Amino acid sequence: MSSTAKGSAKATVTVTLDGSNRSTTLPLVSGTIGPDVVDIRKLYGDLGVFTFDPGYGATASCESRITYIDGDAGVLLYRGYPIEQLAEQSDFLEVAYLLLEGDLPTPAQFDTFSRGVTRHTMVHEQIRRFYDGFRRDAHPMAILCGVVGALSAFYHDSIDINDPKQREIAAFRLIAKVPTIAAWAYKYSIGQPFMYPRNDLGFAENFLYMLNAVPAEPWQNNPILSRAMDRILVLHADHEQNASTSTVRLAGSTGANPFACIAAGIAALWGPAHGGANEAVLKMLAEIGKPENIPAFIREVKDKQSHTKLMGFGHRVYKNFDPRAKIMKETCHEVLAELGIKDEPLLDMAMEMERIALEDDYFVSRKLYPNVDFYSGIILKAMGIPTSMFTVLFAVARTVGWVSQWKEMVEDPSQRIGRPRQLYTGATERDYRPISDRG
Ligand code: ACO
Repeated sequence: MSSTAKGSAKATVTVTLDGSNRSTTLPLVSGTIGPDVVDIRKLYGDLGVFTFDPGYGATASCESRITYIDGDAGVLLYRGYPIEQLAEQSDFLEVAYLLLEGDLPTPAQFDTFSRGVTRHTMVHEQIRRFYDGFRRDAHPMAILCGVVGALSAFYHDSIDINDPKQREIAAFRLIAKVPTIAAWAYKYSIGQPFMYPRNDLGFAENFLYMLNAVPAEPWQNNPILSRAMDRILVLHADHEQNASTSTVRLAGSTGANPFACIAAGIAALWGPAHGGANEAVLKMLAEIGKPENIPAFIREVKDKQSHTKLMGFGHRVYKNFDPRAKIMKETCHEVLAELGIKDEPLLDMAMEMERIALEDDYFVSRKLYPNVDFYSGIILKAMGIPTSMFTVLFAVARTVGWVSQWKEMVEDPSQRIGRPRQLYTGATERDYRPISDRG
């Protein structure tokens, strides 16, 4: 490993090329928990071969100390702390500090940090004008992606990635401004005035305020709802090297500024196989319409020709249960009870689908279980958040994880540009022929 690697080499793996007398010995490296990794960096130099792992199912792309997942045991730890404890006892801003700084803050550290974030909630006034350039029916993820990418055009004093102070300010700015930009994307789509952030409110409370308040009326916070929102943010804050985080790291490895990197992460999150799934779950439930239609839908999902997926089910890493989904399901019941919603047909349908799917051999044999997105959409809908904002909300939460992972990467002295290789299966070298000769 490189001189900065924290993992320890405890054994070796010998790779021999069949039919030749060439072999090499590679270090087997242990982290603090989780599977060991084979350090293959000298494989190409020694044997002239690459490894092949499309989808990166067997590849550790970096060394990280932020988040740990055990997909078989259903464990998720942020800096060593179980997600269940953080969701129950902490709050989003404290979790943000934990992810960024590596440990829970003292009261004085938390005070400084929360002031640092809170003082950056406003955006440059000229950014308002960006919104007029978008169609009213633009998807808020499109607006979020564009406006966050444009932040680097406004905050020139925090784009030098080699200056630790600038990195800190960029982190504050992103965590604080993404909720404002997100809420304004929604306000723009419904033609209501933008609400400026209120720094006297908590992080989740302020976000709900910017989404739901109007200047014409006083706004009343519902603590149960702001607590539920805070919990959703905590559950989505980080998830190690998923597609959007890896995108942020890859963009960041080139030396791109943090605002550009987070915009890249937002773009990757948007896809229905990733953060777009919470929106897709509600669309799916609405299309199914009523419980009687569930068996036919499940049949369609199992028919490989249909290409229909049970949205909110399955996960690349969790093959037993998603611990976030468990908490989300409980929160869903709490929120519906608080709102006095006794019969929510979507929840009834979701529970019925979960029941059927968990008994069906197709899902059992493939280890497909509800993921975090299966229930989050139902909570958000009950809270009055429009479907198109679900993935945006995920982005608001994940910004903290992206920034933490980006910062960890930039601060790693062994960091190099990310540059995977390939197994080339195209044409071998051939000569160009003029078009007149190609009849
Ligand atoms: N519905 C039906 N079948 C599924 C589903 C699903 N949701 N997910 C996986 N499968 C099937 C696959 O078709 C495959 O079947 P096969 O072995 O017969 O070919 C098998 O289960 C293995 O699935 P893979 O696609 O190899 O799993 P992968 O790890 O690549 O994908 C993913 C994981 C993208 C999450 C997938 O399960 C999926 O698309 N789920 C629905 C979308 C979703 O909910 N995404 C949110 C993920 S969580 C998050 O981002 C917060």
